[in-house]
Amino acid sequence: MNGNLCLITGANTGIGKVAARRLAEMGANVVMVCRNRHKGEAALQEIKTTSGNQHIELMIADLSSQAEIHKLADQFKAKYHRLDVLLNNAGVYIPKRTLTVDGLETTFAVNHLAYFLLTNLLLEVLQQSAPSRIVNVSSAAHQYGKVEFDNLQGERLYKGIPAYSNSKLENILFTRELARRLAGTPVTANALHPGAVATGIFRNTLKPIEWLIKLFTMSPEKGALTSVYLATSQEVAGITGKYFEKQQEKAPSHAAQDDETARRLWQVSEQLTGLNS
Ligand SMILES: NC(=O)c1ccc[n+]([C@@H]2O[C@H](COP(=O)([O-])OP(=O)(O)OC[C@H]3O[C@@H](n4cnc5c(N)ncnc54)[C@H](OP(=O)(O)O)[C@@H]3O)[C@@H](O)[C@H]2O)c1
Repeated sequence: MNGNLCLITGANTGIGKVAARRLAEMGANVVMVCRNRHKGEAALQEIKTTSGNQHIELMIADLSSQAEIHKLADQFKAKYHRLDVLLNNAGVYIPKRTLTVDGLETTFAVNHLAYFLLTNLLLEVLQQSAPSRIVNVSSAAHQYGKVEFDNLQGERLYKGIPAYSNSKLENILFTRELARRLAGTPVTANALHPGAVATGIFRNTLKPIEWLIKLFTMSPEKGALTSVYLATSQEVAGITGKYFEKQQEKAPSHAAQDDETARRLWQVSEQLTGLNS
């Protein structure tokens, strides 16, 4: 990875922080995208110290805001003319329906639309840097998800776990349609389940449930393995549009292989992010 440039969202904690550190240890130049400057600076310093790599930078963006995603992409492109790996990792679990500054439901906006918008805004620079890779962190929870176009943002009914599962299904459908659109180019896009990992993702659940989850989960070090594998391994060079668990390709759910839904989701996402205007 010597000198390769990797951008990772949600890099201040959990799986994203370990992935950032591992990539730094492998000699990559890393841009860590975090929403909180204080937490981002602390993680940046820690990774510089532990990896011994000084080519690590922090960019601040709250990915629930489309204006901030545009600002982030502009800031990145003003400074860099290449991007070898985009690792869309930032994610949330939100038990009660909330709206972003753009008036969009937050789980859908952060977990799906932010991946969609940031990737599209950086696509030209990824293409200029090809062979390059887009890695989207999804979840095995996708198998409980549904894409209901009349309830995409929980307008009719919102529950935290279903909304989270739906967004993780959308990650795979987005990856699939993106790979279809990039077919024949040296830019690949793959999705993954990191495993059940002891992180802060379920910090908004009841404390006893959060503790119980932590009892049955693996370390973030193990949880980052498949992200780093898809970002770096020669074994997956040229592989695209696939879903991985434990560093192995795996068939996702039937719903995650529905090309018609993937196309329609792309169109709706274009409208909701203004990318089609
Ligand atoms: N942990 C698991 O068992 C598991 C299983 C399957 C999939 N995943 C997926 O793995 C990915 C990483 O999750 P994790 O488990 O490492 O959780 P985590 O420890 O909660 O980390 C999530 C990261 O996303 C960031 N983030 C959340 N909302 C953001 C926003 N609006 N703007 C910018 N950054 C934002 C968080 O920043 P703050 O620190 O500022 O909140 C944090 O850095 C997620 O996509 C998740 O769905 C996790």
